[in-house]
Amino acid sequence: MESKIKQNGSAHFTLKDKSIELPVYSGTAGPDVVDISKFYRDSGYFTLDPGYTSTASCESQITFIDGDEGVLLYRGYPIEELAEKSSFIEVAYLLLEGELPNPSAHEKFSSDITYHTMVHEQFKTFLNGFRRDAHPMAIMCGAVGALSAFYHDSTDISDPRQREIATHRMIAKMPTIAAMAYKYTIGQPYVTPLNNLDYTENFMRMMFAVPAEPYQDNKVLTSALDKIFILHMDHEQNASTSTVRLAGSSGANPFACIAAGIACLWGPAHGGANEAALLMLEEIGDVANIPEYIKRAKDKSDPFRLMGFGHRVYKNYDPRAKVMRKACHEVLDALDIRQDPTLKVALELERIALEDEYFVEKKLYPNIDFYSGITLRALGFPVEMFTVLFALSRTVGWIAQWKEMLEDPAQKIGRPRQIYTGAAERSYIPMDKR
Ligand code: SDX
Repeated sequence: MESKIKQNGSAHFTLKDKSIELPVYSGTAGPDVVDISKFYRDSGYFTLDPGYTSTASCESQITFIDGDEGVLLYRGYPIEELAEKSSFIEVAYLLLEGELPNPSAHEKFSSDITYHTMVHEQFKTFLNGFRRDAHPMAIMCGAVGALSAFYHDSTDISDPRQREIATHRMIAKMPTIAAMAYKYTIGQPYVTPLNNLDYTENFMRMMFAVPAEPYQDNKVLTSALDKIFILHMDHEQNASTSTVRLAGSSGANPFACIAAGIACLWGPAHGGANEAALLMLEEIGDVANIPEYIKRAKDKSDPFRLMGFGHRVYKNYDPRAKVMRKACHEVLDALDIRQDPTLKVALELERIALEDEYFVEKKLYPNIDFYSGITLRALGFPVEMFTVLFALSRTVGWIAQWKEMLEDPAQKIGRPRQIYTGAAERSYIPMDKR
């Protein structure tokens, strides 16, 4: 990656008897940054920022979010346009390469992915080690980490060709592994990928086909899932992407880095929120119960939060949630389940929350996870698979960010500091003196 940072003056800090000057940089869009990489060397102070609310960890050219305006761009293209007009494979190419593919590049990339969709036959033995009632995300954490044991020939990150093969293998095999994790937990035989199907249709067939009868794809549902995958692909330096970058900064192999990202995504405050949001809507059960849950969400002594609401960056409506809401209605209409009771609760909960002064004051809007659970359940996915689908899609963003980090000349191993408030130095106390 060629840096496109532009210096834009400097910032002056006065700390007791010291004053230091640090460069200010501008990017294409978004806030300017103060480069504090020399702050400790020049001042003897660390900076403190738990949760990195004000700290940029890197320069990136992949995704941009304007949280106040509710804008999300992939390589400059608005997410709404890509969701409506593009496809998973095309957006995956865009995130990895920086430009929309021309016809020959699209065909080659699509073929590269298609011819890596199968997994080593021994992989089935590995999956057999799990209990049948294992959560699919637990299987994904283990299975993806194990890929470095099966594909050791694409783990040398210093070799660009091996990085490219690992990228193709990761994107291509995630649907196959995700479908295997699901089939394993329900005791059905695995369905092998077919090379004449496109990415998302192939995945739907591996998930829902059974040998006992022919499989018929539903283009409306497959197209809705392809759109959902596009929405979830990347999102700047969110927790799981930062995990992948930090793991990758030590030189860990790409499969291990993606497994670390999957583990982080699983948390209910992050990618696990789509599963948690649907379970919350089902627990609320009826619009009459909504006020009680709104009250609990506002009660500081109650750890309950409205799952699918709020976001570290968006202080406006998550643009993905708008597309998700539309896709939700399209799927429910296509399946003629307009009266989905959970959707009625969701629509009423959204209406009430958007009028409640607590949520208005704290700028808590529905995020991508609020409607995705209802849509994914209508598409036939069990709730335990929701975060697996998020991980399947986000693998593209993780890999694109991992690739960008390795190609960044400023890249170095991530190693945050701390403010220490533990015990001052003291001597060991023998057992008979304690
Ligand atoms: C994703 O980072 C990304 O980009 C993530 C993601 C991606 O694509 O990678 O967008 C995917 O993770 C979406 C978020 C999914 N998570 C949820 O829906 C879980 C519910 N949301 C919350 O846990 C929370 O909103 C977070 C974790 C998403 C954001 O938390 P922040 O930014 O740390 O905000 P905060 O916890 O400091 O909350 C600010 C205030 C607090 O009140 P005060 O202490 O200021 O009085 O808002 C309150 C919070 O109590 N608040 C909520 C709330 N979210 C925040 N109150 C009730 N319900 C909520 N959902």
